[in-house]
Amino acid sequence: MEITDNTLYLADISVERLMQEYGSPLYVYEESVLRSQFRQLSSGFPQGLLEIHYSMKANSNPSLLKILLEEGSSIDAVSEFEVRLALESGFEPQQIIFTGNNNTLAEIEFCVEQNVAVNLGSLALLEIYGQRYPQTTVSVRVNPGIGAGHHSHCITGGPDSKFGIYHDQIENAFALAKKYKLTLNGVHSHIGTGIYSAEPMLEAMEMILDVAEKFPDLEFVDFGGGFGIPYRPEQLALDMNDLSQKMTGRFRKFIQKYGHDLRMKIEPGRLLIAPAGVLLATVTNITDTPKYSFVGIDSGFNHLVRPTMYGAYHQILNASRNSAAEKDVVVVGNICESGDILSRSGDEIQRRLPSPVIGDRLAFLDVGAYGFSMSSQYNFRPRPAEVLVHEGRSRLIRRAETFEDLTQCFVDFN
Ligand SMILES: Cc1ncc(COP(=O)(O)O)c(C=O)c1O
Repeated sequence: MEITDNTLYLADISVERLMQEYGSPLYVYEESVLRSQFRQLSSGFPQGLLEIHYSMKANSNPSLLKILLEEGSSIDAVSEFEVRLALESGFEPQQIIFTGNNNTLAEIEFCVEQNVAVNLGSLALLEIYGQRYPQTTVSVRVNPGIGAGHHSHCITGGPDSKFGIYHDQIENAFALAKKYKLTLNGVHSHIGTGIYSAEPMLEAMEMILDVAEKFPDLEFVDFGGGFGIPYRPEQLALDMNDLSQKMTGRFRKFIQKYGHDLRMKIEPGRLLIAPAGVLLATVTNITDTPKYSFVGIDSGFNHLVRPTMYGAYHQILNASRNSAAEKDVVVVGNICESGDILSRSGDEIQRRLPSPVIGDRLAFLDVGAYGFSMSSQYNFRPRPAEVLVHEGRSRLIRRAETFEDLTQCFVDFN
């Protein structure tokens, strides 16, 4: 990504050209960023020790999944349809781990029939699984009692979290395993998403390994995802080199103590795909009040919900007028709710931007994760197209939705 002569270029293609070809608004992904994020992460760990399961909830476009497959990624899936999409995108069943929550037996049965590993997150589900599939192998998700994340909605460990078997109840899991002759071959944990320091990760690792030690038949320990990325220009990145070294060292020590070889798994979503994605939109309106200058665009929280849902910051560029005089503005979407504010950062809603005028293109950065995948058709607006760019070429990887797409499930219509 670079800005030349006031215009933003993605993989050497101007934003203007992309939007003229594919329309507005538009999600654009840079292939080279996705590949380099994966390579950088995997090169931090010794070969053969680690299996990276891309958490496809972050972004499940099959064209992006295929790039990650080529890079050597496996998959973390959380629903039956995610499993199906991964399989049909070319992943082998053995590359997929299914960690849903509050699963139905039907979802579990689907995974078992497909030979996809099931990871169970409660004692009740372990019991249901044991009744249905006695004398088989399964893994369990443990809540290590510690959580972390960029927002309370994203903390998935600790006593406030619905996820996993609480670490002090693990003996009950062993009792169920005994009752149904189950082999528990893996321990999984994921303490939250958007984590910016190594400490909670390493602390949770200690807790998880304390629990893991008690499992007699382990083949893997899965430490989940959660690795944060710098959304703000001044924000420091999580030092993945340091963290990967520390995790490797600790895991090797654990293997020695445990007495036989084990694999380490992680499940990054955001770290791999967030920096690869940009949402482009067009300024359609300017409205001033005594308090604010509102800049209206042809997108909204239906396409990027993170600012509204979490107060999450996304850097915004004026992709058409980068060197214009700056002004404090509030960037708002076209959804009929006053919370539809894309320049939000916590409680702050204004952003200093090169003063936008109607017709300017705005770029929202680092939206590759939990951007399109959390989008909706609210206000009966279609979702935008997705485009992949690489070395001066662009390719449509999901067309924009049409009126027909939005109406096709209605029964009493046409
Ligand atoms: C079980 C599990 N694994 C992995 C992830 C991916 O998290 P992140 O995108 O922060 O790496 C999530 C996301 O919440 C998750 O629930």
